[in-house]
This record gives sequence, C-alpha cells and structure tokens, in this order.
Amino acid sequence: MPQFSKNLRQTVLLLGTALLLSQSASAQQYNPLWIPDTLHGPTFNLTIKDTLKQIVSTGNQTITGGINGDYWGPTLIFNKGETVHLNVLNKLNDSTTIHWHGMHLPAVMDGGPHQVIPPGTLWQPYWKVTNNAATYWYHPHLHEMTMEHITKGIGGMIIVRDEIESALALPRTYGVDDIPLALTDRDFNTSNQFVTGPYGDSMMVNGTLRPQYTVPAQVVRLRILNGAIERSYNLGFSDNRSFSVIASDGGLLDAPVPLKQYLLHAGERIEILVDCSGEAGKSIDLKAFNSLLSNFIAGGENFPNGPFANALGKKDFTILHLNIGAATSAPITTIPTTLTKNVLLDQASAKITRKLTISDSTGVTKPVILGPNAFLINHKLFKMNENDYEVPLNNTEIWEITSSSALGHPFHIHDVEFNIISVNGVAPVAAQAGWKDVVFIPGKPGGPGGTNTVVKFIAKFDDYADSVHPFMFHCHISLHEDEGMMGQFVVKDAPSGVDEPITLSKEFTLYPNPAANKLYVELTNKNSAVYYITISNVLGKAVMMLPQPELSQGIDISSLAQGTYFVHVTDKATKAVTTGKFVKQ
Ligand code: C2O
Ligand code: CU
Ligand code: CU
Repeated sequence: MPQFSKNLRQTVLLLGTALLLSQSASAQQYNPLWIPDTLHGPTFNLTIKDTLKQIVSTGNQTITGGINGDYWGPTLIFNKGETVHLNVLNKLNDSTTIHWHGMHLPAVMDGGPHQVIPPGTLWQPYWKVTNNAATYWYHPHLHEMTMEHITKGIGGMIIVRDEIESALALPRTYGVDDIPLALTDRDFNTSNQFVTGPYGDSMMVNGTLRPQYTVPAQVVRLRILNGAIERSYNLGFSDNRSFSVIASDGGLLDAPVPLKQYLLHAGERIEILVDCSGEAGKSIDLKAFNSLLSNFIAGGENFPNGPFANALGKKDFTILHLNIGAATSAPITTIPTTLTKNVLLDQASAKITRKLTISDSTGVTKPVILGPNAFLINHKLFKMNENDYEVPLNNTEIWEITSSSALGHPFHIHDVEFNIISVNGVAPVAAQAGWKDVVFIPGKPGGPGGTNTVVKFIAKFDDYADSVHPFMFHCHISLHEDEGMMGQFVVKDAPSGVDEPITLSKEFTLYPNPAANKLYVELTNKNSAVYYITISNVLGKAVMMLPQPELSQGIDISSLAQGTYFVHVTDKATKAVTTGKFVKQ
C-alpha cells in the first residue's frame, strides 16, 4: 500500500509539473508544496537536529531545526489500539522536549516542560493509542523556549486511524487526495534567517513559501494544522466555495458541516473535504480572510511598527495555490452525510466546576518574568514546581474560564479531549461540537471596557494517575505560553488503603555485565516497580531516558559508545533513586 500510494503520488506530481510548464510565467513563482514522509509503527525513530534548508529561493540557506530532515518532521501514522514506541534522539546543541499534542497518555510520556531531553540523549516514551482517528501533532515544549524551538521548524503531524474512520468512504491516500497542511508564518531577516517573534511576514505551508500543489478532480481531504506562533487563520477559498468540516481536534464530527470560512487558532486542527470533481485544469487558492478579523484576534491587529508589526496583519492573503489535475482511478466523488455518533460527556456527571481566570498582567503587582505584556492564568505566572490542581482519577469536570483580557487566547489542555459547553452562554457551532483540545477564549465582548468572557468545557480524566508528573494547560500562542500563561495539574488516585505494597527494593541487578546490546534490570523485590530509568555516562550526562520501562524487554543499549555507565532507577512507589553501574562492550 505505501508503495502504491507513492507511485500515485509521483503520477500526480508529474501531472502537476506538466500543468505548471503549460501555465503563464506568473504561476512559476510558486514552489512545490513539500509533503512530509510518513512513518508507521509500532516503533518510530525521530532524530532532532540543527540543520539548514534553502527556504528562500535565492541567497543563504536558513538555519533550521528538523526531525529526520531539514525542516519540520515526518507524519506519524498511529492506529488506535496499538502501543507505539518513540525513540527521540536529541542531536541539538540545546535541551528540548517533544510533546504529543492531543494524545491521551501518561504524563511522564507527555513531553511537556518537565520531560526535558538533554543534548545527545535518547528519550523513549511509549503508550497505547486510545485517541480517536483525527489529526494531531508533535512539537517542542521546553519552558520559555517553545517559541524559539517551534520557530526553527521542529515538529510534525500525527494521523490517528481507527475502525470507524477507516470504514467511511473518505479520501485517505496520503499526499494524493489526503493532504497534510501545517500552516505557519515566519519572519526572515536580510540574510534569510528566521527571526523569533510572534508574527511573520511570509506565509509557509509545510515549510514551503508560496506553495502550490496539484490535487485530483474529486473530493479532496485537507488536514489543516495551525502551527503558527500566534496568528489565527480565517480559512476559505478564493472562489468562496463551501467546504465540509469533517473533524475537529480530537475526532470526527457527527456529520460534515458545510462552511465557507472557518477561523482556526494556534494549536487547532480541522479536517475538511473540498469537492473538486469535474474541475480539472482549474486553480483555486486556499486563503486567510484575515481582513475580517477583529483587532482582538491574533492576526486581526495591524500594528504599523514595533515587535508585532508584520506584513500579514488584518489582510487577506493566499495560503496555498491548488491546481486541479486529473482524477485518480478510484476517486471519492461524494461527501458522506454522516460520519460517527459522538457520545458527549454528560454535564450531570461532573463532580466539580473549576473556575479559572485569564487576565492581563498590566496593573498586577505580581512579578513579571519576561516582560510587561504577559497574560496571567489565575492571577499568576507559570511556576514549574507548583501544581494548580489535583484532579481525582476518573473525575468528570467542568472547567469554567473567565477572561478579562481584551485579546482572545486559544486555551489548550493536555491529557484529555473535551467538549465545549458554551462560549458566553452560547452552545458551540456544529464544527466545534465534537472533541477538542484547544478552545478559543474570545476577548471581552466590547473590548477593554466590556463584560468578561466565560467559556466552559467538560472533560473526563479517566486514566494515568501520577502524583509526580503534571499535565499542562496554557494559551497556545507560544509567546504567551513562554511568558508564563500556563498552569499544571496532576491526576491523583484516591488513597484506598489497600494500595500496592510500599515495601520496595532499593536493590537491583544489571545483567549481563559487561553488556553489548541488551541490558536487563532485575529487581530484587518482585513487588516493587520502576517509574523511571536514566542512564548516564561517566561525566554524569544523561544518554538515555526511559519512562516506565518494560523491564522484561531489556534495554536496547546497542547505540551507546563503549565505556562505563550509571543506571539510575526511580522506584514507582517511593520515587527513591538507586544507582548501579555497567560496562558497555
Ligand atoms: Cu501543543 Cu502544551 O501544547
Ligand atoms: Cu498539548
Ligand atoms: Cu494568549
């Protein structure tokens, strides 16, 4: 199947080239849209590195960060129900993290600010995929460094497949009729280097400037991610055609929702179907109709100068030029009328309504770390060592967010997908009535003098209790997140009194020793369990990090250089750390 789809993709690309050559000179200023490769599981090898890419057509290459390549990263294909193993090797000269945005997984695997991967270290999270089929993504999340690391281009998309989605007649041939589009905008300096900041002057899709792509004359699925630092995109087409939204952040909608425009905020994803049947030879543009945005939506402001000034503010601009080519041999030509039957969470089952606030730091006497423009959650800035909430395991909760900020903020929570209950008392529109992990908190109606905005959503925290590693919630505008507009919670199992034995072994054996390929850790007390293993070299530098390792599998140490290493084992119950030593042959 991958081979088949690759051939198809090449055919379509050839068609695209032929079309391009026959067109006027003006079309040639477009660049072919880059489509990331796909990786299939259960094991995924991701190497993060500093690299270079010729992004601007003339002049210097741009210093970028990439995963397995020179910008952005492969699209990971997960199947619901399978256990995925990620080998994340950090070859940057800097620490970073990789967060699996939207995935329901143990906090220690989540890749938030607490799961720092030092340079040269291999981090090996794994989890069973329980998310619905939809489009997710992965990106760095190092505290105060997220904007910089995302700006370099580090990240990628995740496509989850499941039985419900697979049974539908939907476009599903990656790169042919099912196209991943990671949207962002970047600022380049005069030597073609990225300038880290909230807004760029140049629109990019999958790292391609002024992209064009050839799609077949049939129903085409676009998986659109807003991967921007700050900007929202008011998506629509140049001919004002309608398209059908089929999925929100965390799954299919009950039925396709026909729309002509959709406002996508930072961190959000939608999947849309566009019917191009019978239109071979035509071209349309996917556009951002951002001239229509209010001044209180990111991208709707038009600053003449200063750090927020940019060429795209409050303007309509082209995102992607689409050439419609020949249909494929087995095209999808109709849009299904129904998709799935979402069972939304019942508000009557909520155990608590947590009340959060969003406010501007201006006039607040709290310390402000990074500047006077920070936004606050619960009247404070993020602190790595303070949990805002302890959520009891299995709780269904309503989160009620009241914002006195004039600016709108896309609010994201880790661990769960939620259902929006209301925005200022109004139930969500159909395209947002399914599963979400980002909700836009609009600025106060009426601007600074208006009444506060209130947004409510409901979520269930049904797994992965861990009192040590928290999950994050934050504004997905990376600038705001880095400035401290973030909080964290732990999911806590209620003490039952008949818990696991607290008797732990401080002892373990490493074998074989010396070891060449596999190292086994045997616990002396079989009733104890391991929470975390870090392997460091003689200089004390971590080289491998293994959250909740499956000890029976052994640890694959084949990639380590010869020498002496220390194994630091954290006990699951007590979190006490014991250290052993082995020699790698
Ligand atoms: Cu997409 Cu906490 O992030
Ligand atoms: Cu996330
Ligand atoms: Cu914000």
